[in-house]
Amino acid sequence: MVKRLTVLDIAARKGGTPIVMLTCYTAPMAVILDKHVDILLVGDSLGMVVYGMDSTLPVTLDMMIQHGRAVAAKSARALVVIDMPFGSYQASHEQAFTSAARVMAETGAHAVKLEGGCEMADTIRFLVERGIPVMGHVGLMPQRVNAMGGYRYQGRNEGEAAAILEDAQAVANAGAFSMVMEGVKEDVARHITAQVKAPTIGIGASPACDGQVLVVDDMLGMGGYVPSFVKHYAHVGDVVEQAVKTYTEEVRNRTFPSAEYCFPYKKN
Ligand code: KIV
Repeated sequence: MVKRLTVLDIAARKGGTPIVMLTCYTAPMAVILDKHVDILLVGDSLGMVVYGMDSTLPVTLDMMIQHGRAVAAKSARALVVIDMPFGSYQASHEQAFTSAARVMAETGAHAVKLEGGCEMADTIRFLVERGIPVMGHVGLMPQRVNAMGGYRYQGRNEGEAAAILEDAQAVANAGAFSMVMEGVKEDVARHITAQVKAPTIGIGASPACDGQVLVVDDMLGMGGYVPSFVKHYAHVGDVVEQAVKTYTEEVRNRTFPSAEYCFPYKKN
């Protein structure tokens, strides 16, 4: 039987073998990714990637729970982490606990992720002390897109870089077992990674982190807006388009395979 990675395994990877994380929103994708990656992140990016929203702000707890349940059910090896959506944890410790407890109880996931630095440290501590493992998220925080004036690199001057370091330290000291660090230049990422005790998992933050995460649809080349730092490891959007073109031609030309070919089980 495959042994599932735990939050302790991930925390122990600080400075060791880099942590591989990808977002995952559906059961079939969980089956494929689970064999390879260390962490499946059911990110609230699903609002933009799956539902075509303009930002992650309209994503609800119910949406996260539905997708989280599918991913947890169809994975066996990877740690499953679920994003807490905007508005589900910022109001109070009690609100954060109630939301996170629902996520854990209703999905079978192993940890939650929430965005925020110093101002969220007490909330992270509150959850961790009550048995809910938390992954932090510092640097560029997409749920704050309106306050940040857009999706922009963070840590662009010494003051900003020092503030991100302070955030990362607060999150680690509050008990987060790891943290995403998003949209941070390499020198800043390297410095913060060397200073904080929890592993940093970068996105748009250089290879200087303890691990990497990408939005799976972005790295697969599914199409749509893709941030400039993303490498395309495949062009799946082109493959889908070619398949749909072939199917369309076959249907229009009546060369679509016969039912006998499509349903071989009928032969028996
Ligand atoms: O929502 C998400 O997918 C994320 C990753 C980009 C880190 O938070």
